[in-house]
Amino acid sequence: MKWALAMASALVLQGAPTFTRDVAKILQTKCAGCHHAGEVAPFSLVSFEDARSKAKLIAEVVKSRQMPPWQPEPGFVDFAGNRRLTDKEIRTLAAWVAGGTTRGKGPEPPGPVFPKADEWTLGKPDLVVDLPEAFLVPAEGSDIYRCFVLPTGLTEDKFVRAVEFRPSNRRVVHHALLFTDASLLKRPPSYPCFGTIGLFPTEGLGGWSPGNGPIQMPEGAAIPVVRGSRLVAQVHYHPTGKVERERWSVGFYFTDKAPVRRVVDVGLASRVIDIPAGEANYVVKQQFTSPIAVDAIGVIPHAHLLCREMRAWATLPNGKKQWLLNIRNWDFNWQDQFRYAKPIRLPADTKIEMEFVYDNSAGNPRNPNSPAKRVLAGPGIADEMAGVHIQSIPVHMEELPELGRALWGAVMRSVGGSFYTLPQ
Ligand code: HEC
Repeated sequence: MKWALAMASALVLQGAPTFTRDVAKILQTKCAGCHHAGEVAPFSLVSFEDARSKAKLIAEVVKSRQMPPWQPEPGFVDFAGNRRLTDKEIRTLAAWVAGGTTRGKGPEPPGPVFPKADEWTLGKPDLVVDLPEAFLVPAEGSDIYRCFVLPTGLTEDKFVRAVEFRPSNRRVVHHALLFTDASLLKRPPSYPCFGTIGLFPTEGLGGWSPGNGPIQMPEGAAIPVVRGSRLVAQVHYHPTGKVERERWSVGFYFTDKAPVRRVVDVGLASRVIDIPAGEANYVVKQQFTSPIAVDAIGVIPHAHLLCREMRAWATLPNGKKQWLLNIRNWDFNWQDQFRYAKPIRLPADTKIEMEFVYDNSAGNPRNPNSPAKRVLAGPGIADEMAGVHIQSIPVHMEELPELGRALWGAVMRSVGGSFYTLPQ
């Protein structure tokens, strides 16, 4: 009622929303990143004509918050690049559609400028690693998770300040995770890899998902890559209805500045997962107490299809609760890596906890099994995982070994040492 009144008075004051005045800027900032020519989404949402032809569907998907894809709940912790629409933006879009999709006066606001498919956002990279030949994505079938191991050809050690993953065909790539491997072990050049990459990487370089730009390391925290390292990329392909060819490239940007800080993966994970068929509320917990002060800069959650809720929070030594992540409707399809709007200081002896909830009932539309089956921990598509990775920078770098020892102990306790197996 209040809402209707507020809207009615807004309409009286300035008339129904128009495309040029009200709608264009919402679509350009919150949608066009994925909805423009050559990007992942199936149609553009840039011009008036684009928006008008999809008006009804737009009103529906923004009301249900199916679009834009953005999983964290509002009001718990602030993330950089938050795509969530405000209630007011949703009302504006709804009123524009209900009011007859008025174009409005004046020229269409110029659309945002996106780098072309064959342009690098940060300029010419210092090193480019290309997939040697196109990967073929079949027209139909389930999503494909493929790992690739490629030589970098580096003959000297380097410090990486930024990395850009550039798909050649953005329609089929849902996300990619990048790692380095400095081991001398023999590896296949490519293999199927749902969930985990099946090897213990030397460094994580971050991830890419549609609508996100290059991966940039925080100032002073370039990632060392030793000569001879290989690039490991896990790429998630989504069939589009026709056979697609995809040949991605990765651009590396180096710096001469040796890192003075390091981003450490404070990972909480559990392998104690045994979800009975039909169980709608199966809870997995884990906790870790950091022996040193860190600044948390981001969070990467991981679970498969049955997970619904993901929560992670810290209890500071003074008893204060600090949220680190809160997702109520996890969708495996959108694997974003979240950066905090500003670093979160976690003093020494902060307890970090995670709690994931899984729904293995028939009532979960994402349950791949019908009838439901018992599901255990494991890296495969039929298994489940529970992990939350808090990307953290030690406040005093000389304390890093202490954190390393605590984490190693926690990892060994949670995975039992048998988790990472080499691919066949
Ligand atoms: C991160 C990328 C991304 C962003 C941002 C995004 N979309 Fe989408 N959108 C997609 C993809 C991909 C699809 C295709 C369906 C799918 O894979 O879920 C899609 C599908 C749609 C559809 C068709 C849904 C259907 O059921 O057919 C509509 C309408 C839509 N988006 C509107 C929007 C609007 C409006 C915004 C901004 C408020 C937006 N999208 C932001 C990626 C995005």
